[in-house]
Amino acid sequence: MEGSCLSIKNIHYKNLDIHFWSGTGNSYRIADYMRKTAEGNGLTTRIFMIEKSSNTTALKTATDSITGIVFPTHGFTAPWHILKFACRLPYGKSLHAFCAATRAGLKIGPAFIPGISGSAAFIVALIMLLKGYNVRGVMSVDMPSNWYSLHPIQSRISQEAIIDRARIKTDRFMDKILLNKKVWFTVNNLCEMFWGILLSLISIGYLFIGRFFLAKLFFANRNCDGCGVCADYCTLRAITMQGKTDPKPFWKYNCESCMRCSAFCPRNAVEAGHSWGVVLYFIAGVPASAYLFSWLSRYVPGVQMQSEGWFGNIINLLYYYPAIFISYFIFNALIRIPAVNWIFTHTTMTHLPFWGRYREPGTLLKNIAVRNKNAVHQTEKIKQDA
Ligand SMILES: Cc1cc2nc3c(=O)[nH]c(=O)nc-3n(C[C@H](O)[C@H](O)[C@H](O)COP(=O)(O)O)c2cc1C
Ligand code: SF4
Ligand code: SF4
Repeated sequence: MEGSCLSIKNIHYKNLDIHFWSGTGNSYRIADYMRKTAEGNGLTTRIFMIEKSSNTTALKTATDSITGIVFPTHGFTAPWHILKFACRLPYGKSLHAFCAATRAGLKIGPAFIPGISGSAAFIVALIMLLKGYNVRGVMSVDMPSNWYSLHPIQSRISQEAIIDRARIKTDRFMDKILLNKKVWFTVNNLCEMFWGILLSLISIGYLFIGRFFLAKLFFANRNCDGCGVCADYCTLRAITMQGKTDPKPFWKYNCESCMRCSAFCPRNAVEAGHSWGVVLYFIAGVPASAYLFSWLSRYVPGVQMQSEGWFGNIINLLYYYPAIFISYFIFNALIRIPAVNWIFTHTTMTHLPFWGRYREPGTLLKNIAVRNKNAVHQTEKIKQDA
């Protein structure tokens, strides 16, 4: 058994269930390391994709069982999909459990810079505690960043170095968990608690505002052949293929920017539009209340004062969602025009050859995703292990 150094007679559990959600394979890799450690120590393990909350019916309730939940960090907290999954878990009845969030570690020269998972693992642990689970510990672990709509990806050597360290950290965590030790007050967890509290407003902003903006940045460049892999393997069914003769993906509001569609597109056709993002920012980020109240103040004296208060903020929010949706709808129609597509593609960082696209090197699409039942596209022609 690699990495782990336990004596089997001290192991507290007989069964381990791991539920994971993974956009680009990092969280799957950690879940798989956990599985290997547990199996190496004689446990029977089951591993489930959190594709649907119905997975939770598989939870074991025996006292010699433990359940782990593994997922990526988004916006210094847990993704919305995972929060919903945790809320829909059946009551825990003291079932032992643990949570692990993967986050974006960087390697710069010899230095490893940790990511910030903030409240990610704690918020899920808290929901589980409230549901009656006996949460034994939480962990945040660095994996290579998959947020390449934000920055270029790391070299393969750096990625592998980060993944090797993640293996060691995961083994240490699992060793303690399997011996029934609590893993709460580690230096790393205390730092993340601090960040989680400090960045909580950003996390709330991300969950209720930012993620909708990010969802509307994606578009398909001219390489897209309409194969439908992106739509068929999205956990959230957040892509619809539009157009009968020349189908192209359309990203809906429920996209969580997990990067899976982009990472596994066989033609590298999914772009996270940067120039389009700037345009969208100026359309949707305009404080609508300022204009509305300045117009209204011609007729109602003093109303201008409201534009920056809570009332103004509500007006801005009410404007924000439809503004993004309508703009994306128009953008989606225009992007079919080859010249428009060319301009936005060539002013998008993800299109640059040096930028790169990340997926965990050893992970296949079939490891992390099941094809949607109602998939209607020709995905058979795409070999999953391509
Ligand atoms: C939309 C988005 C938001 C992210 N936010 C954070 C973050 O706040 N902190 C962090 O350390 N990593 C962040 N990341 C990086 C991922 O959490 C990290 O690469 C993770 O290991 C990806 O796991 P997966 O491949 O299982 O999806 C973010 C990634 C994406 C795509
Ligand atoms: S997977 Fe890529 S090529 Fe296939 S439809 Fe989606 S964007 Fe187009
Ligand atoms: S549309 Fe793409 S980025 Fe969005 S949730 Fe689905 S697979 Fe992830």
